Amino acid sequence: MPKSRTTNKRRRATRSRARGTRARNGSGRDDAISLLKADHREVERLFGEFESARSRDRQRELAERICEALKVHTEIEEEIFYPAFLEATDDTDVHHEAEIEHAGAKHLISEIEATGPRDDHFEARVTVLREMIRHHVKEEEQRGGMFSEAQKSDMDLQELGRQLHERKLELMGESPEGGAERSGRRMPPPQSRSRRGGRELRARSS
Ligand SMILES: [Fe+2]
Ligand SMILES: [Fe+2]
Repeated sequence: MPKSRTTNKRRRATRSRARGTRARNGSGRDDAISLLKADHREVERLFGEFESARSRDRQRELAERICEALKVHTEIEEEIFYPAFLEATDDTDVHHEAEIEHAGAKHLISEIEATGPRDDHFEARVTVLREMIRHHVKEEEQRGGMFSEAQKSDMDLQELGRQLHERKLELMGESPEGGAERSGRRMPPPQSRSRRGGRELRARSS
């Protein structure tokens, strides 16, 4: 039918235009933003499990997983995503605020790791960490926040997604199946941060 052929043609044109828009900064299912958002959801899920955990052992296990996941996540953002964001947008306000929030979270993470569940303040520390992360994730994901600014910029989000994924696996012990605690390997030492792109870091570390 001529009518349906026209409709199909229009649909194809719309899909093609949509693909063109995505291709400009490479956003898609496995781009940088999708990867970082998936990390956020995973940590939120672990915090939820921590809240309903009954035993100290389970709480300790979950706190370890939360700390590990957050260390890897903040590391890949600081090494790869944040410098690329700053270079593309020059938005020092958003960038520096995010870095300071990471520093606060990392301080609390090191306290949780050093003290463990026997400490009187263990649960309070995990609760405050959850609140800090909730605030930080909102800042990154909200309208006008870092991620939406990145999507409007000319950042190559597809390539950055590839770099983030690669570095994440490296920090987790190069095992796509499990984390550092499962593979029994510790995180490699953190690399230099800010204003250094992922490519440069990889070249320096190889
Ligand atoms: Fe994040
Ligand atoms: Fe972040």
